[in-house]
Amino acid sequence: MRPTEKYDQNGISGERVISNGFCMPSLIMKKRDGGKLTRNEIEYFIRQVVKGHVQEGQLGAMLMAMFIRSLDNEETTNLTRAMTHSGDVLRWPDEWKGSVVDKHSTGGVGDKVSLVLAPALAACGVKVPMVSGRGLGHTGGTLDKLESIPGFNVSLSHEAMLQVMKNVGCCIVGQTSNLVPADKILYATRDVTSTTENIGLITSSIISKKVAESLDALVLDVKIGKGAFLKDEQSARELATRMVKAGNGSGVKTVALLTDMDSPLGHMVGNALEVAESIHCLHGDGPQDLTDLVIRLGGQLLFKAGHASGLQEAYNIINGTLHNGTAIAKFAAMMKAQGVKADLADRLCEKGVDVFEILPRAKHSTQIKSEMSGYVHDIDAMKCAVVTGKLGAGRTKAGEAISFGVGLHLSTHVGKHVEKDTTWMTVYHNEEKLPDMFVSMLEDALNVRPEPVKTAHKGTRVVDVIT
Ligand code: URA
Repeated sequence: MRPTEKYDQNGISGERVISNGFCMPSLIMKKRDGGKLTRNEIEYFIRQVVKGHVQEGQLGAMLMAMFIRSLDNEETTNLTRAMTHSGDVLRWPDEWKGSVVDKHSTGGVGDKVSLVLAPALAACGVKVPMVSGRGLGHTGGTLDKLESIPGFNVSLSHEAMLQVMKNVGCCIVGQTSNLVPADKILYATRDVTSTTENIGLITSSIISKKVAESLDALVLDVKIGKGAFLKDEQSARELATRMVKAGNGSGVKTVALLTDMDSPLGHMVGNALEVAESIHCLHGDGPQDLTDLVIRLGGQLLFKAGHASGLQEAYNIINGTLHNGTAIAKFAAMMKAQGVKADLADRLCEKGVDVFEILPRAKHSTQIKSEMSGYVHDIDAMKCAVVTGKLGAGRTKAGEAISFGVGLHLSTHVGKHVEKDTTWMTVYHNEEKLPDMFVSMLEDALNVRPEPVKTAHKGTRVVDVIT
């Protein structure tokens, strides 16, 4: 179809809107019929989306065409770039060049890595402007976890972020309204048109937001397993490879770790409980799988940012911060800089303090016992997540209130031995009686067998590294 009329008035949207020789119906048709969109065409599409010149029907049709026909690497990189520049791009002082880093996780159960990683990296001397999300789904997101700390403010302007980064070295904040506005529009339509689970669209959505932070290096934690949105290794590998290409193609040194998410990470699931476990980890007393993941993700970033000459050295540096008091000190400083009262932040970070004097905890607890003796072969992360969500830790629609104090404390791990009739999990809940349905779901989550576990991830969750 060749455009014959040339008009593009504000507020006018529709099939006759033609600009720079492009028009939406012809772009939709091209993608629908399996064509490859050029960089200019993708940039036009995103510009029109942000201006509000694309009709809902056209947007849904284009997303469905992209979903069904797929985007190749080049289209994905071009879409990522166009989305990145659809709004503000954060800017940092020149002297930070090479040292601005961040992590993205595809999300898992008990995944509190960001809370430990940001301050540990700041203690290593790099800058971490961590822009995070809220949880939609079973468990809270990083921002929800942090908001369980009284006073913690996740809504910082760019200027305020810059100040915290100057003074502390890291901050963890929500997305400002004009960071990648195209993603907000596309994501809302993807959500209601069944076009979310597409590698090209997921990649451009995630990577554009990270590139808009003007990072020098990015590490991706791509989770695989029962508690992850990608259940199999092949899809995780494909997404990781595409995201690494798009990140590198956008000028950010990017690496991905494929990590196991069959069972919950660490021992705690739930907002305030995960803050408590993060504080333990920042004191060097965290569970091994969480500590290892922080070291491996952080090590990759330190190495990429040139703060270590090899990976082992990078791992040693970040591990050092968890044991010499510098990572926990950064966490205290970040809390104070983001609104938490100084005496409260200091008390939370004092070694040996019961943090639940300060953090919210649910009113009641119930112990779940093992029905047999043997070795733990599995703790189904999804079943744990579903119960945690039903207790009120997560939300099913944006804006819903959540309960900070509810959640699970697992006192065993895959590979460990448990005795019949002993507690392997404590559930924290607000209702007086934990519904029987939740008890049986949690009992079902534990898989105990007489023989020892051969394939337990011996202390590390990392399955592979994609560069
Ligand atoms: N997270 C995002 O930000 N975007 C997606 O498309 C999927 C997960």
